Amino acid sequence: MTSSLEIATAGQKIDLNRLESILSKYYKRGRDALISVLQEVQVEYGRIPQESIEPIADTLNLFPSEVYGVVTFYPQFSLTPQGKCTIQACRGTTCHVKGADKIISTIENTTKLKEGETSSDLKFTFKTVTCVGTCALAPVMVINNKFLGKLYPKKVADILSQYEKG
Ligand code: FES
Repeated sequence: MTSSLEIATAGQKIDLNRLESILSKYYKRGRDALISVLQEVQVEYGRIPQESIEPIADTLNLFPSEVYGVVTFYPQFSLTPQGKCTIQACRGTTCHVKGADKIISTIENTTKLKEGETSSDLKFTFKTVTCVGTCALAPVMVINNKFLGKLYPKKVADILSQYEKG
């Protein structure tokens, strides 16, 4: 049975009970709590649903445009569904010098994704980022919050196959 608190959007249902449970911890806590709320919502739904922007703003006493501004500013947040594993390949200067192009093409060939894409089974999202701050380990990629360095194409393919198996 469909909950009255579910809203159909773009063919997907949003269970607002889960959102309310997150927001109940942050009532009127203001802007300082915004990143924490967004992180929880992103983990819960795999994205920041459009329908959550206004309730988040109401809870924190903010304008919806302020919430939207933060969501669209930080790459860790996304309005569209993200894969279970987010692969971020560094294309900063040091990684570039150390062969980031080969790392990126290995990721593209292995996952069949181009930058910014998510696989249809929602297993992987692939992004590139500028320096992630671990240049000594270049070239680097980050999968979810795990930093993986001193990469070369075979190492990347092996790592991705581990994640593919789940
Ligand atoms: S340039 Fe890649 S970690 Fe700094």
